[in-house]
Amino acid sequence: MDAPARAEELRQLLRDASHRYYVLDAPTLSDAEYDRLFRELEALEAAHPELATPDSPTRRVGAAPSDKFAKVTHLRQMMSLANAMSEEELAEFDARVHKLLGEEKVRYVMEPKLDGLAVTLTWRQGKFVQGATRGDGLIGEDVTQNLRTIKMIPLQLAGAPPELFEARGEVFINKRDFVKMNEEREKAGEPTFVNPRNCAAGSLRQLDPRMTAQRPLSIYFYEVGEGQEFTTHWEKLARLREYGLRTNPENELLESLDAVKDKYRRLLEKRHALPYEIDGTVVKVDSEDQRRRLGAVSRTPRWAIAWKFAAEEEATTVLDIQVSVGRTGALTPVAFLKPVHVGGVTVSRATLHNEDELRRKDVRVGDRVFLRRAGDVIPEIVRVIVEERPPEGRAEFQMPRTCPVCGAAVVREPDESVTRCTNLSCPAQLVGRLRHFASRLAMDISGLGEETCARLVQEGLVKTPADLYALSREQWLSLERMGDKSADNLLAALEASKRTSLKRFLYALGIRMVGEATALAVARRFGKVQAVLDASLDDLQAVRDVGPEVARHIWTFVQNAENRAAIDRLLQAGVAPEAEAAAATAGVFAGKTVVLTGTLTGSTREEAKAEVERRGGRVAGSVSRKTDLVVAGADSGSKLKKAQELGVRVVDEQGFRELLK
Ligand code: IVH
Repeated sequence: MDAPARAEELRQLLRDASHRYYVLDAPTLSDAEYDRLFRELEALEAAHPELATPDSPTRRVGAAPSDKFAKVTHLRQMMSLANAMSEEELAEFDARVHKLLGEEKVRYVMEPKLDGLAVTLTWRQGKFVQGATRGDGLIGEDVTQNLRTIKMIPLQLAGAPPELFEARGEVFINKRDFVKMNEEREKAGEPTFVNPRNCAAGSLRQLDPRMTAQRPLSIYFYEVGEGQEFTTHWEKLARLREYGLRTNPENELLESLDAVKDKYRRLLEKRHALPYEIDGTVVKVDSEDQRRRLGAVSRTPRWAIAWKFAAEEEATTVLDIQVSVGRTGALTPVAFLKPVHVGGVTVSRATLHNEDELRRKDVRVGDRVFLRRAGDVIPEIVRVIVEERPPEGRAEFQMPRTCPVCGAAVVREPDESVTRCTNLSCPAQLVGRLRHFASRLAMDISGLGEETCARLVQEGLVKTPADLYALSREQWLSLERMGDKSADNLLAALEASKRTSLKRFLYALGIRMVGEATALAVARRFGKVQAVLDASLDDLQAVRDVGPEVARHIWTFVQNAENRAAIDRLLQAGVAPEAEAAAATAGVFAGKTVVLTGTLTGSTREEAKAEVERRGGRVAGSVSRKTDLVVAGADSGSKLKKAQELGVRVVDEQGFRELLK
């Protein structure tokens, strides 16, 4: 598409999005999507100035106020902030500030960027007389009556305020209250809010103030409009508090760019622990004199910037829903999505877990959905944008009645949410079990991926893992797309996998609920395969960290004749699981918790971990007061720093190798 056409398309998209957001309170674009389109348009208009029409969304701060409320002309424009999406962009902002100001020292105040609704409140002779939304920055909506219902807004200011005083702040709702409100609305059959911000906006823009009064709205103040001048922002914040206006306790005065970056990281870490949602931070020049000299460009001041966190919520389209069958036979509906960048990674599918989840969210093929990814958490479909469904609707998704892979009947136990394929030799289950058997933390047979496993099963060459060890070179070569080199590598990997640990072996069997940690506990307790096979249910339950349910799964598994035969055949094929360090009383790391960080050159992380475990230690993922030792490889970062702060013993890779000797 050429530039003029794209610019027009972007303008249309952005206009429509603002209208839905501000006027209809029913957004269809996520903030991040809106930002991205907005930036694309800004860039296009910068490159082709002739494309910048006077009515372009880039020329306005927000959207037109709706006609539900009386209009209020702001005494001073309510500006909005430019965004920095990365540390580089923040550094550019700081460089610009310094360039414009010369050699001067610049202090910054950093505030959480609250995800709510900006308002301006006016007091005359200390009495609250008016409150307005930002609207388009020049003209907002009169929401005085609604604001009066928010108890933390003083109707009478404390201290000695000037005759006229305007304060600006953000109206928002705490996450907890938001969830509670949505639950109540759902019970009442009312539509739920997509996120806390929309909930706050919708609540403040109620026509009936009695409705607003029932919503648990909060406010933090962060700027002063007309009425009083200050020397610094920090002093301004203190004065707001003197007048009885809440400011955010997270706000901080910072002396340098490094301190700003550090604060950003601290807020990012704290983000989910805060009672309200923030989508980033606001970095503001502290000195009011410097602010005046920096000035503004059209709609944004040069003295402040919103340094945002990576988007965690995005909208995308469900292209398909497919049901996959895992190694335990569980049928899992999976949504295939139009790829979208969220929380730092590209996501093209999201699990819908099971039938209940699917029903609850009511996801249908073709739907637009909001996708969320928080921290390291797997991506999740938060909700369907039902408003965007075509009027004729879309077909509801039906869980299949038979296994989509083998056609066998599926069952759903009354007290379970999982639907399972009943056929133990279902090819999908076989493939899943093989794949698990070969995986890195199990037998670690590299080169035996999903595709190869599927071919082996398809060709009928493998029915149980032991069959893998019986395949000849010719048989491997008979597989589609298998070359000489791959076949040799596989044979070597299989041979190498025979010398393994009992823990890996037990884990590789794929017993339900037996993860790595359980496998290790059982291996340490019994030492030999035969001892595990001979163990009674009581013996198994006596193992530390093994609960009754897990013990029963292990016991049932090894009592099953077919499973026993499969294990026997593995042992006969030459698989020889070695005993683990019997208990946490032997070895240099006996009873110790070790954290591995940075890059190790002499071995992989997994190997190093195995070495520690073989010597009675436990490897943990993060450093705490309970950590006994941190092994810091090359380029160690925050974990090393934390260890030093806590006074935890640290060794480098060489020191680690010494300990292993
Ligand atoms: S200062 C010119 N401080 O972000 C300065 N804004 O894009 C204008 N916001 O409309 C605002 N937290 O809704 C400021 N601590 C904070 C903020 C904040 C959230 C919002 C506010 C504003 C938008 C600017």
